[in-house]
Amino acid sequence: MNYYKIKNLEQYIKAYKKSVNDPEEFWGDIADKNFIWYQKWDKVLHNDMLNGDIKWFVNGKLNMTRNCLDRHLNKRGDKTAIIFEPNDPNEEAQHITYKELHKNVCKMANVLRDNGIKKGDRVCIYLPMIPELPIALLACARVGAIHSVVFAGFSANSLSSRIQDSDCKMLITSDGGYRGNKTIDLKGIADDALKSCPSIETVLVAKRIDSEIHMEEGRDKWLQPLMDDAAEDNVSEIMDAEDPLFILYTSGSTGKPKGMVHTTAGYMVFTAYTFTNVFNYKEDDIYWCTADIGWITGHSYIVYGPLLNGATTVLFEGIPSYPDFGRFWDVIDKHKVTQLYTAPTAIRALAKENLSYVESHDLSSLRVLGSVGEPINEEAWHWYNNNIGKQKCPVVDTWWQTENGGIMISPLPFITPTKPTYATLPLPGIQPVLMNSKRNEIENHHEEGSLCIKFPWPGMARTIWGNHERYMETYFSAFRGKYFSGDGALKDEVGYYRIIGRIDDVIIVSGHNLGTAPIENAINEHPAVAESAIVGYPHDIKGNGLYGYITLKETGEVRDRDNLRREINEHIANHIGPIAKLDKIQFVDALPKTRSGKIMRRILRKIAAGDFDSFGDISTLLNPESVDEIKNGRIA
Ligand code: WT7
Repeated sequence: MNYYKIKNLEQYIKAYKKSVNDPEEFWGDIADKNFIWYQKWDKVLHNDMLNGDIKWFVNGKLNMTRNCLDRHLNKRGDKTAIIFEPNDPNEEAQHITYKELHKNVCKMANVLRDNGIKKGDRVCIYLPMIPELPIALLACARVGAIHSVVFAGFSANSLSSRIQDSDCKMLITSDGGYRGNKTIDLKGIADDALKSCPSIETVLVAKRIDSEIHMEEGRDKWLQPLMDDAAEDNVSEIMDAEDPLFILYTSGSTGKPKGMVHTTAGYMVFTAYTFTNVFNYKEDDIYWCTADIGWITGHSYIVYGPLLNGATTVLFEGIPSYPDFGRFWDVIDKHKVTQLYTAPTAIRALAKENLSYVESHDLSSLRVLGSVGEPINEEAWHWYNNNIGKQKCPVVDTWWQTENGGIMISPLPFITPTKPTYATLPLPGIQPVLMNSKRNEIENHHEEGSLCIKFPWPGMARTIWGNHERYMETYFSAFRGKYFSGDGALKDEVGYYRIIGRIDDVIIVSGHNLGTAPIENAINEHPAVAESAIVGYPHDIKGNGLYGYITLKETGEVRDRDNLRREINEHIANHIGPIAKLDKIQFVDALPKTRSGKIMRRILRKIAAGDFDSFGDISTLLNPESVDEIKNGRIA
């Protein structure tokens, strides 16, 4: 049997069993038959979950971009690799063939080399969704540099702390970016960030909006002239299977963002395998994932997964609401998109608009619909299924995380059934388990527990950059020898998984992972603020909104509350990014605390949600009277 491509239910069952009974043979066979290697591995898996020491394809040698590009050139050289759909629908779309992409990646690789980048160096990428972005990722992979993409919506402060954390030597950015009818001054933000980033030696600047920007003498260089002059020669670094491919930061419940480290071979095998199966990929498909490459979804399912399969992947610069709420449907119609992979928050926002935006476009090219980033509620699921898929396209609700590298739990279109609000079944190679608070495996149907994975898979992050201890503590300490996801889940009577949501202090807002602690730290820096607590509450579009309870310093000065709210949100936007702004701010006299001084978030979450029942016993609180005050002042 060919394990790479699952064709029917029987093969799924067979593959799943094989992957559990003999994981090394299962993944070894897939890696052997579907990729090119300079040298085969000695051993498929080195498995030490107790110490968080996982290696796949031990001593294998390869280059990621040879697999994404070079090996397709004979058969698919003139096939479109990337369709670039600009922000402005009147700007012409670009079709970049595999040959052209290969040439540009080789050129940019040489630009990196000419500017002193060597294997193992870290390169930060802060770019909008333009062709230079995937080309930059691949150029790094070609020379063996570790890319660290920072989402172009993040602030100067977020950018600089990420650059500092991994000592990046180079920054690749642009003069700016388009977002609907606005432009974003990326270079200005980058300049701000670089004031505190001594490790950066060179800044390469792509031109997108043609704005007047400052170019720092000796540090900043326009990218295009360097590309024009660069050699096209075809060298690629020979990488070890376990050499890091990239770092991508994700929020933790406490402390600074975690730089998740993904390595080369395992990530390659896992993203390619999950892409082809979860999206029922076929050679002539036009596949579109609407995420930003700044998130893991974009890394795995705009760039690496599709290119590894020789697919055509759409790179969309714009937003769903520009020039109007029909933009997604227009892009699907225009490019005859076959798979759409998007987020529940986008679906809910578009479902609120008039159906005529959908009906005026031909969506008949669609075959598979995907959802990712947060639980998709029943109503949104049906709207997507009925109005976009016309009940002909399976909706795959894909559960996974930055840490996982690729999709873990998902239906397989036309092979395994879908069920609204359920991510359903694990992919072959993935062994989930639900644990109760006594640290035992849950056997009962419909009992909620902590979602863990009890066996390694090739795409898992190997460590947190510079902090293996934190990696162990975050993922491997709650349940001995198991990976803990931080999510709660349950299983129905046939074994389908339903993801309930985070059980730690991470809040998923519009599909973005936000830690409460970093936001609270930012707020507490405001001179008027004494203390703050952030909780999530149900929000019809974003999934969760952010509700902030804030106590003020007693300065005697009376300040306009609305002004203060604006200032606090501006401060958050500057410190973290606009995505972390609070939807509601309630100023309170005191936060409810336990006698040991811990803020009772459980109660604050209930109040924010308007759920005033069953607070539990509050008499043991340090300040039980605070609860009534907060209840009465709740912002609806
Ligand atoms: C968290 C990971 C990797 C995808 C982008 C988000 C939530 C993700 C689902 C889903 C319910 C989901 C989880 C997870 N999540 N997909 N299909 N159903 N919840 O990556 O930023 O690392 O966030 O997103 O809570 O832990 P991320």
